[in-house]
Amino acid sequence: MQKGILITEKLNLIKKEDSFLVDNYIDLIFIRLEARMSLQMEVDTDLKEINNSNDIFTVIKKRHSVRSYTKKMVSEGLIKMLIELATRAPSSMNRQPWGFIIVSNSQLLEKISLKSKAHFLNSLDKNEHKIGELKPLLENEEFNIFYNAPVLIIICAREDENISMKEETSPEADCFLAGENLMLAAIGMGLGTCPIGLSLPVLRTNEIRTTLDIPKGYLPVLPIVVGYPSDNESYVERQRPLIKWIH
Ligand SMILES: Cc1cc2nc3c(=O)[nH]c(=O)nc-3n(C[C@H](O)[C@H](O)[C@H](O)COP(=O)(O)O)c2cc1C
Repeated sequence: MQKGILITEKLNLIKKEDSFLVDNYIDLIFIRLEARMSLQMEVDTDLKEINNSNDIFTVIKKRHSVRSYTKKMVSEGLIKMLIELATRAPSSMNRQPWGFIIVSNSQLLEKISLKSKAHFLNSLDKNEHKIGELKPLLENEEFNIFYNAPVLIIICAREDENISMKEETSPEADCFLAGENLMLAAIGMGLGTCPIGLSLPVLRTNEIRTTLDIPKGYLPVLPIVVGYPSDNESYVERQRPLIKWIH
């Protein structure tokens, strides 16, 4: 127990540095401490787990779209840290034009899933979309477009009032960079992710925007589900990209 008090004092000292990242890092350590029901634990071991067991090359290779999750909720501390790391992404003219809406209400996610399936089935009937192969899945009552993940993080692009979204900056591209950061960071925390483009049309409707209280000027661009994976880690083969060397 004495060791625990010492650790707490040490962490509070570091906290005085007042960095958002340090705060969240400390929150994370506390969450892990709590989970072990004891302060007598190896803080050092935990730090190593996050820093060293996931070198950047392994993490990039490990990332894949996870489509099966356990029911375990992702803690607020981890979500805050994911967002902090997402915002380390570069952005055009350093505008940092992103916002994060976090949804963990399973009934609301179910509602958005049902509406999204209906939306796409309707556009398939009208021949507006060429995703015919998805029809059996969309018609399947059991299919939840969010794969029953506990959390959806919707990355939203902020339009700059003075600058047109399309011409001079690329808020959407900046949000995608933040999204990749988030998905890679998730691996370091033992979490899985999957972007859910299928939800976008419904997330952009006035009804759902109002329900989610998405502020004016923010456009949902990249919804990502997050949770603890229960899949068998299947990896999709990559095709050879175009590569040209100009010497
Ligand atoms: C913008 C975007 C939207 C996507 N939307 C969906 C989606 O709605 N549902 C889904 O299961 N996967 C979705 N994906 C995941 C892709 O299917 C997946 O990234 C691709 O098949 C490659 O597999 P991997 O991510 O496992 O490497 C999306 C990916 C991106 C980049």
